[in-house]
Amino acid sequence: ELNMNSKEDFIVDKKNVLQSSIINSTLRDWQCLKCEITATNLMYPVFLIENDDDIQPIESMPGISRFGINKLRDHLEIQVCNGLKSILVFGVIETLPKDKIATHADSKANPVIKSLPLLRKWFPEVTIACDVCLCPYSESGHCGILNNDGSINNTASLKRIGEIALAYAKAGAHIVAPSDMMDGRIGAIKSILQAHNLLNKVAVLSYTAKFASSFYGPFRDAAKSKPAFGDRKCYQLPPGSSGLAIRAADRDVQEGADMLMVKPAMAYMDILKEVKDKYPHYPMFVYQVSGEYAMIYHAAQKGAFDLKLALMEILGSLRRAGADVIITYYTPFVLELIKGKS
Ligand code: PBG
Ligand code: ZN
Repeated sequence: ELNMNSKEDFIVDKKNVLQSSIINSTLRDWQCLKCEITATNLMYPVFLIENDDDIQPIESMPGISRFGINKLRDHLEIQVCNGLKSILVFGVIETLPKDKIATHADSKANPVIKSLPLLRKWFPEVTIACDVCLCPYSESGHCGILNNDGSINNTASLKRIGEIALAYAKAGAHIVAPSDMMDGRIGAIKSILQAHNLLNKVAVLSYTAKFASSFYGPFRDAAKSKPAFGDRKCYQLPPGSSGLAIRAADRDVQEGADMLMVKPAMAYMDILKEVKDKYPHYPMFVYQVSGEYAMIYHAAQKGAFDLKLALMEILGSLRRAGADVIITYYTPFVLELIKGKS
């Protein structure tokens, strides 16, 4: 009789055989259901500019452009045909003036305010989230209102963030997503929505754990939102911290956030998993940011790997770590890849 444990025979104990679980692609898929990517798992960030008929390719993000609303319409029509479910809209201004209180974040001339009714009309099935922040509209390029010494005036910032969120909600956003990282912003937004009877009509997606990351570089070029001086280290989380990320999640949940987010994605998958494990009943978002987009693009371009395979591996791993929805600039590419699969 064979001794199954005998080292000499090199025979694996029968209950330790793994290869029998992955004999064909269906069996392999059964092992990966948590990693599945469908259109519902994707949110597509778009940059909206003032000139309705303009398209501006973004040099630091090859393949991505800023769109005027008429061009965005054409672009989104294709994506909707491929199953697009949701977008995250960023406004970018070039001719409108920037000032201390980010006047044009929610003025009548703001491209997001102007476009929301049209987007709702043209794409009734698309869920629209709006990024809420001051940095694309403030002369300092910072995400809040500053005191004279350059520090954040949190109270004044909350008031402004609340007003902007309300304006986007009134203009037609389904979701408002504050990315400013001011303390108490979820509560402030919920209060102003309540005061305007919008509490049960608009969802709040919190950029819960947003780190002061090197991976935002291309975005700041895309959104023209680079700080004019200093950095964002006094309001975005230190990359090495995990305690603050969990405290931020606790706080945002307490203040009434509907959905949580970790940002960036790949370098913060431990945080993603920890937040999802602690709050399994909240849809968990992760933002594959501009620098990650560019990194993957350039690596594939140089032949380091196959773009499709590497990208699906990364997106699947984000799902495995706990992401329900991945915000990614690759959404059009992925929708094309998964077309026909259900
Ligand atoms: C600004 C904002 C940033 C991103 C989303 N909103 C950049 C920043 O905080 O400097 C990053 C998105 C990306 O890099 O793709 N509040
Ligand atoms: Zn900002």
